[in-house]
Parts: sequence; structure tokens; C-alpha cells
Amino acid sequence: MDTPFISAAPPSDELRAPEPLGVIEEVHGPVIDILCTRLPPLHQALYVCVDGECYRLEVHRHLDESRARAVALHGTSGLRRHLPVFDSGGPLAVPVTPDCLGRLLDLFGNPLDGGAPLAASGTRPIVAAPGPLEEAIGVGEILPTGIKVIDLLCPFVRGGKTGLFGGAGVGKTVLVMEFMHAIVHLHRGVSVFAGVGERIREGHELWHDMQDAGVMPRTLMVFGQMDESPGVRFRIGLSALTYAEYLRDHVARDVLFLMDNAFRFIQAGSELSGLLGRMPATVGYQPTLLSEVAELQERISSTSPAASPRSRRSTCRPTT
Ligand SMILES: Nc1ncnc2c1ncn2[C@@H]1O[C@H](COP(=O)(O)OP(=O)(O)OP(=O)(O)O)[C@@H](O)[C@H]1O
Ligand SMILES: [Mg+2]
Repeated sequence: MDTPFISAAPPSDELRAPEPLGVIEEVHGPVIDILCTRLPPLHQALYVCVDGECYRLEVHRHLDESRARAVALHGTSGLRRHLPVFDSGGPLAVPVTPDCLGRLLDLFGNPLDGGAPLAASGTRPIVAAPGPLEEAIGVGEILPTGIKVIDLLCPFVRGGKTGLFGGAGVGKTVLVMEFMHAIVHLHRGVSVFAGVGERIREGHELWHDMQDAGVMPRTLMVFGQMDESPGVRFRIGLSALTYAEYLRDHVARDVLFLMDNAFRFIQAGSELSGLLGRMPATVGYQPTLLSEVAELQERISSTSPAASPRSRRSTCRPTT
């Protein structure tokens, strides 16, 4: 049977680092403890290759001077103790290219739509600091959505952030689809959609609906649905946001970034926090809730098209 969530081969730049960083000491669900010869930095991407498969891990905790705790970004059924672990040399990065528009991708930028892999000229790390404050621009203009009740009663602000709150099945996803439609047809912009921990059926329907509506050529979808490991569901928002930042900085268009939904992102963080052995804080949420939400939402910002943000452009790593 296919295991589509496990990439078949490590990225080519990872192949150049044959010296293992350490070995797997313990596998506990998606949590992997590694006995290291040197401690990798937090959020470093590591990988383990076994039986022709490559499993990626992300470091989340330093247990002592020689042991790190990482979270697997795949199912861990093929992993076992004493397997060598390699360092990728940086945080998880995704391939970026203007041709990403129209595609359906996973956390790593691999196609989920059956198409060819992205022919990217570079990669961009998904864990990054927010842009410098002086490059952010204020907001104030209304963004018409074409949905009269929204434009009249709770208008959206261009360049701002808006949350949709509602119980199960009240129409949040349907509204999100309408916004994507509006940004393409009314504003000639592009949309980046992050599907975080939602039902696979919903993601499938959304993808087909976007194709039927003819907005897919100006839309990018990045999916980490509810069948994925908590490590993937926790990072999928950042992966999609990295593409949105790339389109904003390099393709220079109006970009609408949508995340369905923020609660599943927080839930994945809570799941990870428990697995990593942290004590829960207020009402059972992870003690790192505030910083995790800030890490994501502070990067959702508008910049002036005239600015030439060298700091952000330089974050692209060329691939060889
Ligand atoms: N304005 C509307 N008029 C009629 N039906 C609607 C409307 N909006 C949504 N629906 C229907 O309601 C159902 C649930 O909508 P949707 O999936 O958008 O809810 P949701 O809030 O995203 O739910 P969940 O929290 O479970 O993800 C869908 O079958 C959709 O077709
Ligand atoms: Mg929904």
C-alpha cells in the first residue's frame, strides 16, 4: 500500500551530510528521543532514512547535554531504536517558486494533486522571525468581499486580520470559499489556503469547488489534514504562511491568507505539548500557547510594495 505521507527520498542537500548526528534512543508515538554527539538547535529539521523511506523530525526539546527530543512529521511505524539520525542543517524549509500557484501541496511542498514536483529555484525556512516593524504598513481601507451582509455589518480591513468564530457546521468553510472567490474575481489577487487538521473530505471538496469556480490558477492550497501527525498539523500553518510571504515579497501581489482552522492548530500544539511532557497551564492548554499563537499570527502582516526587504529576500536558500 502507498504511504503518501512519507517522502521517498531526502532532499539533495541533506544527502551531503553523511555524518550522523546521533541515534534514536526511544520511539514513543510521534515523539523520538535522540542520543546526540552534539545537540542540534531547537526547531532544527533532522531526518532518518530506513527501508528506502525518509522520515523527517523536528527538534522541540533538549532533555540534557546529550539527548534531544524531536517530533516526527510522519507516521513512525518504520522507526526503531539505534537508527542513525542526520542533521539537515537548518529548520524545515519548503521549495518556493511563482509556479506554486494552482497547486495543492503538503507540509514539505510536495504535490498532493498528482502533479509534478515544484521546479523551485530555492527553499525558504518555515520557522522565521516576523518582518521588521518599520516595513509593516498600517491598515485602514475596507476590503469589499461582495457579500453584502459582511460588507455592511462587519467589513474586512485590507491588510488586516479577521477571525471567524462559530460552532460546528455553521458555514465558516463556505464563507472562506467565498472570500477566496472574491479576492480572485474582485481584486485580482491571490489566495493561500492552509487546511489545518480538518476533515479530508472537506479539503477534497474545497479543492474541487475551487477548480469548478475557476479560481485555482490564482490559489495555492497547503493541506495537513486530521490524519496527519500532530507535528504536521502544528506546522502546516507556518508552511502555508511561508508561501504567502514568498508570494507577497517576490510575486508582489495582494495575498489573502486563510487558515481553516486556527483551533485545530492550537489543538495540535496542545497534543504536542502533552507528548513532549510539559505540564498543562490554564484550562488544560499548553503553557506555550501565547508564544505559539504569536509566532504564527505576528508573521501575518502587510508590507509596502515599494519596500525592498533585503532581510526577507535573503531568507531564500538556493537549491542545487
Ligand atoms: N449560507 C448558507 N446557506 C445554506 N447552506 C449553507 C450556508 N453556509 C453553509 N451551508 C451549509 O452548511 C454546511 C456546513 O457548512 P461548513 O462546512 O462551511 O461549516 P463549518 O462552520 O466550516 O463547520 P465545521 O466547524 O464543522 O468545519 C455545509 O453543508 C454547507 O453547504
Ligand atoms: Mg469547516
